[in-house]
Amino acid sequence: MNEKKKIEVQKLYLIFGRERNKAFKMLMKGKCKQDIKKETGCTVAVNGASFTINEGEIFVIMGLSGSGKSSLLRCINRLNQPISGSIAVNGKNIATMTDEELRTVRRKELSMVFQHFGLLPHRNVLENIAFGLELQGVEQKEREQKALKSMQLVGLTGYENQMINELSGGMQQRVGLARALANDPEILLMDEAFSALDPLIRVQMQDELLALQSKMKKTIVFITHDLEEAIKLGDRIAIMRDGEIQQIGTSEEILTEPVNGYVRNFVENVDRSRIVTAASIMVDKPLVARLGKEGPEVLIRKMKENKLTVLPLVDANGILQGEVHLKELVKLREAKIKDIVSVIKHEVYSVTADTVLEDILPLMTRTNSPIWVVNEEREFEGMVPLSSIITEVTSKDKKEINDIIQQSIDL
Ligand SMILES: Nc1ncnc2c1ncn2[C@@H]1O[C@H](COP(=O)(O)OP(=O)(O)OP(=O)(O)O)[C@@H](O)[C@H]1O
Ligand SMILES: [Mg+2]
Repeated sequence: MNEKKKIEVQKLYLIFGRERNKAFKMLMKGKCKQDIKKETGCTVAVNGASFTINEGEIFVIMGLSGSGKSSLLRCINRLNQPISGSIAVNGKNIATMTDEELRTVRRKELSMVFQHFGLLPHRNVLENIAFGLELQGVEQKEREQKALKSMQLVGLTGYENQMINELSGGMQQRVGLARALANDPEILLMDEAFSALDPLIRVQMQDELLALQSKMKKTIVFITHDLEEAIKLGDRIAIMRDGEIQQIGTSEEILTEPVNGYVRNFVENVDRSRIVTAASIMVDKPLVARLGKEGPEVLIRKMKENKLTVLPLVDANGILQGEVHLKELVKLREAKIKDIVSVIKHEVYSVTADTVLEDILPLMTRTNSPIWVVNEEREFEGMVPLSSIITEVTSKDKKEINDIIQQSIDL
């Protein structure tokens, strides 16, 4: 992905209420939100948020109701005026722009899609989509052309003359999206854009947004309070609580390394098997058996020292060739055979590092060995031990699981 910085937010504070200057001073002195509210009546909606959004990224902001998501988003196009901090869009500071400059930015660089669609009920679909362009004084022919093009993008072709109130919710949100896309903005701000839709339609819109994004490569800031939606859409996710950003990371990072109890609680109920990949639970560079270099005696010693019953077997080029089992090696030693070739098990289970747990689980039922991780060239990279998989699935303590497995291993 292109790493060009599209939106940079630094130490942003937004306070609602008449006495916000006093409230801000109190906040800077370390007073808590509740005390500030009591004394000044002001609400601290955004409390020192900093983050950077890269070009082409879908950046999701999520958090419970009232955590400040909309307030933060609306600072980006200056529908809200922060009391302190800076926001740069394409390197230009939004806070210090004149109204004229701001209009240009809103026209060319930023568009917003609202939760409740924000459509004009007495106008038809085409007129609604062209409405923003109309306000900008774009002449009729050009605005119709642009509107028709964005209708095509979101699958609304043929609905030009329908009245808004004749459309289903899903269709109305398509109109909202088409309107936001009509002037081909670089950045889309989407505030709970799909939350008012039926679950099935919602999933369909998510899929369509992703398909559209793979063509458009916009920068999208997407607000939701649905974690599944955040994980599905977000390249990165910011979790907000009480106006503060608690953690920013990929969904994988948020799920596997929550920074605090709040984030952990938040993510606990997600189906981890669809998000966690082999890469995050594998043991890098574990012990291996080297084909042609090590015989039964050396391998048995190695395995016993490390309490292992199986080793992956790699050739001189690091390619996974199979695995060898302790029991078989012991038999070889008893028969005084020095070559391990006869006991190599070639049929083993391997995945690439980006395989999700959901696809690793079925393999577990077919083997008692770890699942090996290889790259596209079948070069050996690591292993996913049974214990890691069980830990991920059951969220049980790893040590406890290891103990259970260790007890049941028949050395
Ligand atoms: N215009 C306003 N005037 C005063 N207070 C406001 C205003 N807008 C929001 N707030 C307050 O700021 C806080 C954050 O609200 P915000 O709407 O940003 O939350 P949110 O995370 O978007 O919630 P939701 O998920 O319900 O949309 C809340 O306490 C809210 O009451
Ligand atoms: Mg909101």
